[in-house]
Amino acid sequence: MSTSDIDSILQEERLFQPPEHFRAQAAINDAGQLQQMHREAEEDHTAFWAGLARREITWREPFTTALDDRAAPFFKWFADGKMNVSFNCLDRHLADRRDKTAIVFEGEQGDTRHITYGELHQQTCRFANALKNAGVESGDRVIIYMPMVPEAVIAMQACARIGAIHSVVFGGFSAESLKDRIEDAGAKLLITADGAHRGGKIVELKAAADKALSLLGGNTLDKVIVLRRTGHDVPMVEGRDLWWDDATRDCSDDCPPEWVGAEHPLFILYTSGSTGKPKGIQHASAGYLLGAITTMRWVFDIRPEDIYWCTADVGWITGHTYVAYGPLAVGATIMMYEGAPTVPDAGRFWQLCERHKVSIFYTAPTAIRALMKFGDELPAQYDLSSLRLLGTVGEPINPEAWMWYHRVIGKERCPIVDTWWQTETGANMIAPIPGVTPTKPGSCTQPLPGIAADVVDEAGNSITTPDKGGYLVIRKPWPSMLRTIWGDDQRYVDTYWAKFDKRYYLAGDSARRDKDGYFWIMGRIDDVLNVSGHRLGTMEVESALVAHEKVAEAAVVGRPDDIKGEAIFAYVVLKGERPPNGVDEALTRELRQWVAEQIGPIAKPDDIRYADNLPKTRSGKIMRRLLRAIARGEEITQDTSTLENEAILLQLQGKA
Ligand code: PRX
Repeated sequence: MSTSDIDSILQEERLFQPPEHFRAQAAINDAGQLQQMHREAEEDHTAFWAGLARREITWREPFTTALDDRAAPFFKWFADGKMNVSFNCLDRHLADRRDKTAIVFEGEQGDTRHITYGELHQQTCRFANALKNAGVESGDRVIIYMPMVPEAVIAMQACARIGAIHSVVFGGFSAESLKDRIEDAGAKLLITADGAHRGGKIVELKAAADKALSLLGGNTLDKVIVLRRTGHDVPMVEGRDLWWDDATRDCSDDCPPEWVGAEHPLFILYTSGSTGKPKGIQHASAGYLLGAITTMRWVFDIRPEDIYWCTADVGWITGHTYVAYGPLAVGATIMMYEGAPTVPDAGRFWQLCERHKVSIFYTAPTAIRALMKFGDELPAQYDLSSLRLLGTVGEPINPEAWMWYHRVIGKERCPIVDTWWQTETGANMIAPIPGVTPTKPGSCTQPLPGIAADVVDEAGNSITTPDKGGYLVIRKPWPSMLRTIWGDDQRYVDTYWAKFDKRYYLAGDSARRDKDGYFWIMGRIDDVLNVSGHRLGTMEVESALVAHEKVAEAAVVGRPDDIKGEAIFAYVVLKGERPPNGVDEALTRELRQWVAEQIGPIAKPDDIRYADNLPKTRSGKIMRRLLRAIARGEEITQDTSTLENEAILLQLQGKA
C-alpha cells in the first residue's frame, strides 16, 4: 500500500449508496428491516440465533437449548440437536433441485464439467462409502491435500456425511507442513491427487504426500486415496495407496448420513499464530453451517439463478465456507477454477466470468491489485454484464483498488462487500448488507446482526471517540465461532480469551470506528503477517530459516507491498562469516528455496539481509520495531545504544 493510499484511507469520505436496481431486487433492501434484525439480536441474542437455526437448518432431532455457556469460553450451540452437514448441503435439495447445476468447473487448460445436485449427491455417497471401506469412522481425522477440483468438495462433503473430521491442507504447502498437520491431527487417511495444474506446470502433490509420510515414520496414517488429475506417472505404494476410481468403483450410491450432535467437530483448519507452530482451528457442525448460510443470504444476497464464484482455494477458510459449504447449503450454483489467474493472460478471471455468466464474484484484494496492474483493456474485452455483486476478503483493500474494482469490473452497478472475518470466526462478521448499507472504499462497514463486534482500549472499555484505534473484539459468542484449538484447550483460552478476562473474544486485529460507526481494520496486533491475503507467522518463517545448517539466527518482519499487502523481510545471522558487503546471491536463493520447502512458496522471503548480529534490547529481545523501520527504509529514531557497534546498523540497512 502506498503512502498516498494510507492518507486517502484516513481521509476517505466517499460514500456509495446501493445501486437502485440492485436494491430493488435484494432480499434485504430496507434499512428498517435491517434495524429490526439488529434490534431482535440485541434484545435476545440467543433467541435470535435459535430462530435462525430452526429455520435454516434441517434437523434430525431438534435442539432444546440454544446456547450453553456454562463452561465459557468453551461455548456450545444447539448441543442436543442432531443433524448432518452433508445432508443439509445435498439431500435436502434433491426434491426440487436434483437437476440444477451445483458445480461448474473449469481447469486451466479449458476442460469444463457441470455437476448437478443429483450427481454431486451420488458421488459424495460413493466416496463416503469408499472412506468407510478404508476403515474411516465417525470422529476420525482425514487429511485432504488436493487440487481445486470438484473432488476436493466431494471429499469434504463425504467426510461430513460420515462424521469424519477433515483437515484440508492447501496444495501450496510443502511436505514438511503437510507432515506437521497430519501429525498434529492424528489423521488416519490422506486424500490427494497425482498432481495439480498451476501456471502451465504440474504441482507434485503425490510426491509431497509421499515425502510427508516418509518423514512421519510410524504413524496412525496407513491409507492414501489418490485422484487421477494430471495423468502423469506417480509411484503407488502397495497396500497403502489406492486410486480414487478403484476405491469408488464398487461402492454403492447409497450412504445414509451419520446423524451427529450439533457440536460434533466438522473440521480442523490450521492457521498461523504468533508462535512457530500453526494451530488447528476446530469448528463444530451446526453453528458453523448456520454462519455459512446466514451470510450467504445477508452478505451475498444469494438468489436461485446466481452463479456464485469465490476464487479462494478450499485449503483456506474462505474456500471452506464460501465454496464447499455455504453456497451448497443454500442450493446455489458455484463456479470452481483450477489454475493461475494469469493463464493464458491476466484476463482469465474476466473471461471465466463472461463464459460462465458469473453473477457474484468474491476474491482477495491482492488479486485485484495484481490484475489492475495490467490495465483496463483486458477486462474491457469481456462481457461482464452478468455480474451483480462483488466481494473482497482477507486483507484491507486500498481505496485505489476498490475504485478500480467498482469502476472497471462492476461498471459502477455492482455493490462491493468488503468482508472482515477470520479462520476462527467461521463466517463473515463485519460486512455490508449490499441492498442497504452504503459503502466506503476501504471499510468493511458494520457488524452483521447477532455479531457483537466492538473496538476496546487496554482496559476493555469500548472506544467511543471516532477514529481512535483499539483492539477488535467480539463481546458475545456466535454460532460459527471456533470451539477450541485441536488438542490444546489452554492455547485456545490464552490466545483468544485471556487478554480480557475471558469476557471477550480477541480477534488479534486493531481497528478504529469512524464517526458513522464504520469499522476500519488497521492491522494485526501480533507477529502475524498478511501476505497476499494469507496468514503467516513471523516465527514460523524464522524457525524455518534457523533450521538451515548455515543460519544461526533470524528475524522476520513485514514490509508494505503494493501488490501483496505485505512482503517478507528477513534479517539473518550466519554461523560462519558474513558474506562480503552482505551480498551472497547464491545463498539467498538457497535460503528462499529452503523456506519454500519447509513451509511453502508463499513463505519465501522477498528480501534477506545478512548482519553480524541482530539488534536486541538489554533483556535480549529482538528489536522488531527497529527492524520494521529499516525494512520500510524509514529514518531510525529508536535508541540503538544496545547495539555493540554502529556498523551493524549499516549492515541491517544494507549500506555496509
Ligand atoms: O487481519 C485480518 C485479515 O485477515 C485475518 C484473518 O486471516 P485468515 O484467518 O487467514 O482469514 C482470511 C479470510 C477470512 C484477519 O485477522 N482480514 C480478513 N478480512 C479482512 C482482513 N483485514 C481487513 N479487511 C478485511 N476484509
